[in-house]
Amino acid sequence: KNNPVVAIDGPSGAGKSTTAKTLATAIGAGYLDTGAMYRAATLAALDAEVDLSSADEILSALNEAKLEIGTTVEDPYARLNGESVDLEIRTERVTAAVSQVAGHKKVREHLISEQKAAINAARKKGGIVVEGRDIAEVVAPEADLKVYLTADEKARASRRALEIGATASDTAEDIKRRDKADSKTTKPMEAADGAHVIDSTKLSVVEVVAKLLALLNDRG
Ligand code: C5P
Repeated sequence: KNNPVVAIDGPSGAGKSTTAKTLATAIGAGYLDTGAMYRAATLAALDAEVDLSSADEILSALNEAKLEIGTTVEDPYARLNGESVDLEIRTERVTAAVSQVAGHKKVREHLISEQKAAINAARKKGGIVVEGRDIAEVVAPEADLKVYLTADEKARASRRALEIGATASDTAEDIKRRDKADSKTTKPMEAADGAHVIDSTKLSVVEVVAKLLALLNDRG
């Protein structure tokens, strides 16, 4: 089928971003990083100095800020009020607060409706690979291919460390804390119904993407 929608879920550090971007490039599809949306929303709330325990305050900060997320591999930008925040959304300040912001149902509803709109637009041109925690179950239950990507704790920590330039032991703690906090909202440690489980601990990016391409082809 043309213009496929591919959902890639999994815990932090499982290799979702690299896999999703590589697959999107291989099939000429768009790319949406929903984690970047929660991170940019968190940055907007932190900058507005609102009470992070209040969904309404966060939403009003979001309504005042102009939040934009790119939907292509070439330019997967995050912009806040016209300014690039690609680096800022990966800082410890944002990472430490994102689970709390993402824990509010109203905040999720707001971002999920934007995610659904981006997916609908991509359905008409090239399809899209979407990564997150709740894509197969909530955001795009109609996805053509659902993948649950995981890896053992050690591999996830060292990948995350490479990404952010910290030590693996620092991030092992951070990952555990975030997976636990996220489990109250989404199911980062569980595969959705109908999802293909891929453990990337011992696989290279190329090997994982080859598996996904085979699964896409098998659909006929
Ligand atoms: O994927 P990433 O680590 O950038 O996600 C950042 C955070 O955003 C997660 O820890 C989680 O709290 C939230 N998130 C979410 N649902 C998604 C994607 C991310 O709640 N679909």
